[in-house]
Amino acid sequence: MKKNNTNEYALVTGASKGLGFAYCEELLKQNYNIIGVARETKSLQKLQTQYPHLDIQAWDYDLSDLKNCHSLFARAIKFNVSLLINNAGYGVWGLFKDTDLEKELNMIDLNIKALHILTKLFVKHFVEKNCGRVINLASIAAFAPGPVFSTYFASKAYVLSLSTAINTELKKQKSLVRVISVCPGPIKTDFWSRSEYQNTNKKPPKIKGMTPEKFCHQSLKKALKVMKKNIILLGLGNRFLVTAMKYFPQSLVLGQTYSRQKSR
Ligand SMILES: NC(=O)c1ccc[n+]([C@@H]2O[C@H](COP(=O)([O-])OP(=O)(O)OC[C@H]3O[C@@H](n4cnc5c(N)ncnc54)[C@H](OP(=O)(O)O)[C@@H]3O)[C@@H](O)[C@H]2O)c1
Repeated sequence: MKKNNTNEYALVTGASKGLGFAYCEELLKQNYNIIGVARETKSLQKLQTQYPHLDIQAWDYDLSDLKNCHSLFARAIKFNVSLLINNAGYGVWGLFKDTDLEKELNMIDLNIKALHILTKLFVKHFVEKNCGRVINLASIAAFAPGPVFSTYFASKAYVLSLSTAINTELKKQKSLVRVISVCPGPIKTDFWSRSEYQNTNKKPPKIKGMTPEKFCHQSLKKALKVMKKNIILLGLGNRFLVTAMKYFPQSLVLGQTYSRQKSR
């Protein structure tokens, strides 16, 4: 096993591509060893040649199978994990009356239950040592209900609400452990082809937001540092959108979301 000076590991779920892969690259630049988890992690192995002095563990787990979350934790605590990024997730797009129940339940298992289990196990572990951090990937979708993308939006609202509440408890208890929500707006990844348009003939929408690399660089910089904040939200447009969701009449926000999602 190769090790960096501090022997610290970051565990990243959904590490094989998209934001998870970009987080791994960013963490390696910061001298973390990595445990990267996805159903298929071959892509991570190519990073090993670029970072021969660091250890990259590429572990295949389907985290929507919840017993795998417990196996993952039991295996991971043999390493000095100081950071968990709960990033694996996807969405199911469409009118609620039409979307596939099994796919939605699988998404709930991954986006909510797997994240909940790993957050619980690692928070307990980190609190015992009074150090460590969990970064949970929510979304700007977490801030309001999402007609035509309803279960995905609801799953991200769960992530944001849970993480903010836990982080408040930790601060009140004077713990140094933190659970930070990172809330991306649209970013061009496979999220859009896997999540939104499965079983439809539609093409994924054109996404103009930040690149995954830029988003992960900026969000990680903040999420690793903040002590008082609960939420990391990047970009003026996203901040405006979230403020609008809070202060504009809900009927207007719901109507806008319905039209935007329906027209995708
Ligand atoms: N992209 C956006 O616009 C956007 C916006 C807001 C929030 N987010 C959130 O950001 C996170 C990352 O999304 P992304 O855009 O990077 O999506 P992505 O490119 O589709 O990547 C998703 C990652 O999750 C892994 N994964 C999927 N199902 C899994 C399972 N059952 N068990 C373990 N790993 C699994 C995938 O690898 P395998 O397929 O190999 O398992 C992949 O590594 C998600 O939580 C998403 O909701 C994304």
